Amino acid sequence: MRPIRKAVLPVAGLGTRVLPGAKTTPKELLNVVDRPILSYIVEEGRAAGIEHFVFITGRGKDAIPDYFDHQVELELQLRAKGKIEMLDAMLADLPKPGEMSFLRQMSPLGLGHAVWCAREVIGDEPFAVMLPDVIMDAERPVMAQLVDAYHKVGGNIIGVEAVPESETHKYGVIAPKPHSGGHALGKLVEMTGMVEKPPPGTAPSNLSIAGRYILQPEIFAVLGRHETGAGGEIQLTDAMARMLETQDFHALEYAGTTHDCGDKIGLLRANVALALKRPDLAAAARAALEPLLR
Ligand code: G1P
Repeated sequence: MRPIRKAVLPVAGLGTRVLPGAKTTPKELLNVVDRPILSYIVEEGRAAGIEHFVFITGRGKDAIPDYFDHQVELELQLRAKGKIEMLDAMLADLPKPGEMSFLRQMSPLGLGHAVWCAREVIGDEPFAVMLPDVIMDAERPVMAQLVDAYHKVGGNIIGVEAVPESETHKYGVIAPKPHSGGHALGKLVEMTGMVEKPPPGTAPSNLSIAGRYILQPEIFAVLGRHETGAGGEIQLTDAMARMLETQDFHALEYAGTTHDCGDKIGLLRANVALALKRPDLAAAARAALEPLLR
């Protein structure tokens, strides 16, 4: 079985749900506690063995490659002032030489189109897709859980999360194969279909596509047809649904908490939840927050 070495991170989105903050700072660089959302995503990818990150950026997103580069003046100043812990935290996010590629999606044609833009860099091997507005807080990093599942069953793996039925219209939703839980694979189920943003009342289940995928490279040929779907966009979900006719897809209901940081309340909740889990900040965070909630 070929290893999962590369991940595509589509970061060209406009961040309309977190404007005006995302007007000059790409939403993926908004801070959660004290580091950008993207820092958590790259950390999760590295923990799953990802060796190469392919960022699909767009106009106005130049701060992203800059974030993953040296800021020489600042680093010199921190060193001179003896702020070594801060310096180390900054350097931890930097890529090893050649660990990151940055490509531009020149027109906002949809998530499927963004992933298709990575085809030459990914080449003919299975790869991960990690949506960067979702921080996954989990004991075993969620991307690593998907890689574990991939090593058991191969094919294509989609991370899913149960959501209330009233919310399914906001997501891609999968159709699990009935009675496929016979083997001891925990929350890994075979799939028979999926649909992007089903109208209320029509979703095939309450299992939403949550933003972590392992895909076989044949997806690029399907995406290359540039067929549009929900919202007039080239949808990754539609291409996967097509590929399901010829390839295995499993959905993994991973263990962990999902924070949608592309959303005001999701971003707020991520800040609170992750500050409360930080040994160095938990007590102060609790003391600051409790009076507000009384
Ligand atoms: C995208 C995907 C959708 C998925 C969602 C998760 O939608 O198209 O299938 O459920 O991310 O956040 P978007 O949120 O970009 O509309």
